Amino acid sequence: MNKQTISPYSKIPIGPSVKHGKNFAPNTFTCTFLGESCQQTFNAFFIWEKLLCKLDFKRFIELGTALGNMSVYFKLFCINRNAKFYTYDFGRKNNITGTPVQKFVDLKGSCNKVDIFVYAKEIKEIISKPGITIILCDGGDKVHELRTFAPSLKKGDIIACHDWGRDIKTSIIQPEINKYNLKELLQKERKELNTATGIFIKK
Ligand SMILES: C[S@@+](CC[C@H](N)C(=O)[O-])C[C@H]1O[C@@H](n2cnc3c(N)ncnc32)[C@H](O)[C@@H]1O
Repeated sequence: MNKQTISPYSKIPIGPSVKHGKNFAPNTFTCTFLGESCQQTFNAFFIWEKLLCKLDFKRFIELGTALGNMSVYFKLFCINRNAKFYTYDFGRKNNITGTPVQKFVDLKGSCNKVDIFVYAKEIKEIISKPGITIILCDGGDKVHELRTFAPSLKKGDIIACHDWGRDIKTSIIQPEINKYNLKELLQKERKELNTATGIFIKK
């Protein structure tokens, strides 16, 4: 169940919040980062910090840029780790808004305005480069994104899916979990924090 709402943090109108159980709890509201709207909850940041702090990754691929404000967070993390950042969106409805911080990190330089499925071959080539790749499925069809890109993962690579438990869940992709030897990381934290970010490592 969805309802249009105002962010309890910034008071700006944001996308629909998702009802988890009985409540529209604050950790289910989409949040802002540096004052700009993201299509995530604050608790997603806890999970990403927990994962990224300990991981020696070489590149981060975000499928679904939207307004580009979560992309700013990921790109900043990549800059701090000397890793490469790529983000993809065909941008029919959404677009990066060109905020000062997006310009500061040259977000445009990381943006690819393409259909991820049409451009899948190129994305797969990027995944298969040496060093740990993290790919976040946050486009329009997470199940199809996982099915398309999981076959290219190397041992130790990470595939994460937003809207985990809603648009995509174990019952839908158990065959792929088995076939590509994926193991969920930070499951306890995901449940405790009630986030919709499912994170898997290729074993
Ligand atoms: C949920 S939003 C991304 C949210 C963003 N990652 C954030 O955290 O703020 C999903 C985006 O995926 C894009 N999208 C959907 N299908 C796509 C496709 N086949 N190729 C490229 N982009 C796509 C949409 O245009 C939309 O902007």
